[in-house]
Amino acid sequence: MDRIITPIIVKLGGSVITIKEKPFTPNLSVINRLAREIKRADRKSLIIIHGGGSYGHPLAREYNIIEGLKDQRQLIGFSKTRQAMMVLNKMIVDSLIQQNIPTISVQPSAFILTDQGRISEMNISFIERMLRINLIPLLYGDAVLDEKIGFSILSGDQIASNIAIKFKVNQIIICVDVDGLFNEDPKKNPKANIIEEIELDALKNLMNNLSRARTTDVTGGMFGKIVELIPAVESGIKVKIINAKKVNRLYKALKNEKVKGTEIKQR
Ligand code: IPE
Repeated sequence: MDRIITPIIVKLGGSVITIKEKPFTPNLSVINRLAREIKRADRKSLIIIHGGGSYGHPLAREYNIIEGLKDQRQLIGFSKTRQAMMVLNKMIVDSLIQQNIPTISVQPSAFILTDQGRISEMNISFIERMLRINLIPLLYGDAVLDEKIGFSILSGDQIASNIAIKFKVNQIIICVDVDGLFNEDPKKNPKANIIEEIELDALKNLMNNLSRARTTDVTGGMFGKIVELIPAVESGIKVKIINAKKVNRLYKALKNEKVKGTEIKQR
């Protein structure tokens, strides 16, 4: 069989595809627009991963899934979290298929195992076969089984970073609802400046200075995202953070055109 064309990984953050303040509310107009932008960019080799937003996080928090199985009453919460992610996932697949993008939904919890929240087992051979025949795998942050603590929450960012390293991709595009990384929290200080490009060492310093943003995300908001992406950057993968709530930013990023955002590089 032919070698696969190196894919690009796109992570669609939950803050983009759902209305974060309203539990179980999709942002359908944004989902559909992003599907159109992905179609228009016409990349043959792509892996898409989406987050939980107002589907995954409220349930994961309510039942404290991330800390593992401590009480049998959490079991129904684990089921509900997985189910909520599948409901959200279906809307994304439907929208991509509507654009004639040959998307295949891949359920992370059915093939990834964690060890205290860190991926310990993941067989990527199915994803590789999909890519070989130009199918577009679509994964998502999920409630997964865990070797030590029974179950946990696996973020889409950890999946993106891990798969990126395994496939030696050149680039991960992280779609969020802010323009990129700022020297201060832009939601608190409107005068905060965007950082267009940052090397890993400078990023680590910045992170020591920024306090963990208070967040409703069980997987830690922007801070959690960056931490997950560091191993990918360390292995030479370029990470671009963009605001996909703004029209055409994802399209431009996929086309490798200049686009507002933050690029994180090894050096
Ligand atoms: C979280 O995934 C998945 C669940 C809560 C089940 P992410 O951590 O990748 O989600 P977002 O993008 O931050 O919403």
